Amino acid sequence: MIKLEAYVPAGTEEKVEQLLRGKEVLLAEAKAGEEKYQDSQDWLDTEICAGEAQIERILKKAAEIQANADAFVLIGVGGSNNSARSVIEALTENLDGPAIRTNKVEIIYAGNTLAPHEMTKLFRKLEGKDFYIDCIAKNFETLEPGSSFRILREYMAKRYTQEEAAKRTIATGTIGSSLHKMCEEQGYDFFDFPLNVGGRYTAITNVGLLPMAVAGVDIRALVQGAHDMQVEVHENEGLANTAWRYAGLRNVFYGDGLRLEMMSSFEPRFRHFYKWWEQLFAESEGKDNLGLFPVTGEFSEELHSVGQFIQDGTPVMFETFLDVAETEDSYIVHESPIVDYFDYLNNKDFREINRAAMEATIKAHSEKLPCLRLTIGKLDAYNFGQLFYFFAFACYLSCKLMGVNAFNQPGVEAYKVQMFDALGKGR
Ligand code: PA5
Repeated sequence: MIKLEAYVPAGTEEKVEQLLRGKEVLLAEAKAGEEKYQDSQDWLDTEICAGEAQIERILKKAAEIQANADAFVLIGVGGSNNSARSVIEALTENLDGPAIRTNKVEIIYAGNTLAPHEMTKLFRKLEGKDFYIDCIAKNFETLEPGSSFRILREYMAKRYTQEEAAKRTIATGTIGSSLHKMCEEQGYDFFDFPLNVGGRYTAITNVGLLPMAVAGVDIRALVQGAHDMQVEVHENEGLANTAWRYAGLRNVFYGDGLRLEMMSSFEPRFRHFYKWWEQLFAESEGKDNLGLFPVTGEFSEELHSVGQFIQDGTPVMFETFLDVAETEDSYIVHESPIVDYFDYLNNKDFREINRAAMEATIKAHSEKLPCLRLTIGKLDAYNFGQLFYFFAFACYLSCKLMGVNAFNQPGVEAYKVQMFDALGKGR
């Protein structure tokens, strides 16, 4: 369950009711899935993309990798890497050195950049380590994963025999794609990238779940969290449906002239989740000259940089705080014999200090701009599953209210045409 609280100007809730009145059919359509989007909606049912058979196969492969590798290279960009990276970077630790989590496999990201220095860093990280690679790409036309996969296959061939290299190479692509054919020809293990799910909606599929499982994330709990959220947003009607209410609020703010939604949190472990969320909303909603631009705030650090603008700058945004009710870590600020003028913190826990900063920020910011708070129980695999499903469904609803297709991304193609021309790919 995700709790939604609103700190908004008087009259906002009435506007939401008014906006959503008579539009219940849109919620019903989203719940049922729509004929016109049938090539993009398998993610709506977690059973289709993450049923027991898929989970079993993923866990078996993850166990093989954990037994034979120190590192796992996730080659993918955008929707092919953001969900896994969100969870792995939040729930497992690898403090720039030997893994300190119980799971020994370090996850290394590739195929998300074209910068040569990142390649240098990648090969430095792989030196002396046994590794597997997984190239994740829907159609296998994207430049970043394609180019990185090629140089990693070359590196693999230098490090291992042909047979061993093939065993250590995995690809996740759509059935019938050129990547699938390569796997069949070269003997690489192939995982299915569901044909009817766009990249940014693939958290609860082989795309997100295999790398997470390799990193030791409890993917059963994650899928359960997503499934429970699926039930919740499919059963609840009207404003009792949190995803519908959130979508309604976003659209009211848009109608009031706001143009940015800032997701803020006092939990820096959401750093990579932010990237997933930004992609989801920017690519789904930002089209036909419409949409709220998603931006993020990593607090309390960024209160000392962008905080000024939020509180005092052009009034273009509303803010959605992502809150975690239960925090495990605890650090007490002890009394100090040295005078530093921080005695008001004596015996206070960092938990309490962080929370006080967040409550104060919500209070201060909501005097200037509308603020929402979405609260999850704790930062774990189950709750990440809840977040993935909640935001994907809410985004779909928000796009329906705005009148845009949540599942295409025509605007991404324009730069690619120029880039491929420059690289001589031909059209
Ligand atoms: O959401 C989407 O469909 C896109 O943003 C893709 O995830 C991204 O472009 C990567 O595509 P591919 O998996 O085909 O390399």
